[in-house]
Amino acid sequence: MSSSASALRARFRSRRTWDITESVIREMTRLAMHHQALNLAQGYPDFAAPEVLKRAAAEAIAGDVNQYAITWGARPLRHAIAAKYQRTYGMEYDPEREITVCCGATEGMIASLMAVVDPLDEVVLFEPFYENYGPDAALCGAVPRYVELRAPGWTFDPDELRRAFSPRTKAIILNSPNNPTGKVFTREELELIGGLCQEFDALAITDEIYEHILYDGARHIPMASLPGMRQRSILVNSMSKTYSVTGWRVGWVLAPADLTDSIRKVHDFLTVGAAAPLQQAGAVALSLPDDYYAGLAAEYTRRRDHILATLKDAGFGCYTPRGAYYVMTDTSALGFPDDLTFVRYLMETLAVAAVPGSSFYARPGGGEQQVRFCFCKKYETLEVARQRLTQLRGVGE
Ligand SMILES: Cc1ncc(COP(=O)(O)O)c(C=O)c1O
Repeated sequence: MSSSASALRARFRSRRTWDITESVIREMTRLAMHHQALNLAQGYPDFAAPEVLKRAAAEAIAGDVNQYAITWGARPLRHAIAAKYQRTYGMEYDPEREITVCCGATEGMIASLMAVVDPLDEVVLFEPFYENYGPDAALCGAVPRYVELRAPGWTFDPDELRRAFSPRTKAIILNSPNNPTGKVFTREELELIGGLCQEFDALAITDEIYEHILYDGARHIPMASLPGMRQRSILVNSMSKTYSVTGWRVGWVLAPADLTDSIRKVHDFLTVGAAAPLQQAGAVALSLPDDYYAGLAAEYTRRRDHILATLKDAGFGCYTPRGAYYVMTDTSALGFPDDLTFVRYLMETLAVAAVPGSSFYARPGGGEQQVRFCFCKKYETLEVARQRLTQLRGVGE
């Protein structure tokens, strides 16, 4: 860096960005492009989105839905969201006062945090975590308190969780089904977490983006549906994963009217709104019949089983996911000193991109023998992955 560039950094880079590093997952995607590697790092499908949604989006543009939608979301989409939660979970949200459409769950999460967290408030996070939550907390000036999810079952110690709560706790962020572990929190676990939120007067901010990607009979239970939690839950979700449109950037936040009021203000000044024609298509998506979701889960079960067979055969220890579309693996049998060395080897030698486990941990040494693979891919892609990863067989012996 030139001296004038470093002087610029020293003079102008805000304090709140100091601790934030580039997203490892998105860096892996760039490296995968550079090495022409198979991208099993970033969680986006390489297969087509549902035809009916693409048609609805094209028709919206052709029909000149090209200007700003209402800041908190086009009315048809908000009403479709409310109807879907009613239909699926029996939950009632007022589309006029309790729903905010935003640019993906990413904006939903940070807008929610900015709406409720003050500097030095504490936010409880489970570790390993989806890597956005740390920077989200940092950008709000919040102090993260980590609670470990322990392999192989990714369970947590209730006493450790209780110790993470204090009068300074403003919220816990909960992601279920979970990225990267594939854990689906049980009703008992949710009740325990909800009980602590009530006892410590804290909020639950839940990222439910994989709600329909479930395996082996696992059930998703929104925290807000539990007794006593409707008024202290902020539910974040998006079209990205359920409808295979991660690039559309349409998400939503469900919250009690008073909190929605604050969230809408933050959202308004951050982005004004999500893409109007894609919101129109979103209303079609949210109105799809139940068999769409059953089909989605069935297809992902086949993809999961395909990659699990590949990974086990190649010598990985696998934590079988019950939800979401990632497999977290244990690489210790393969004989590499750490996850970064291993991921570099995968990229450069086998042309396969994966995410180093350490990027999901804050504590030093966390995830050093773990690597995450995503399997939201065509069967052809999974087959190429199998051919490449098979070459690892015997590497650690
Ligand atoms: C847990 C989780 N939350 C949020 C996101 C991003 O969601 P969106 O595309 O809606 O911004 C992802 C993407 O991988 C994710 O895994």
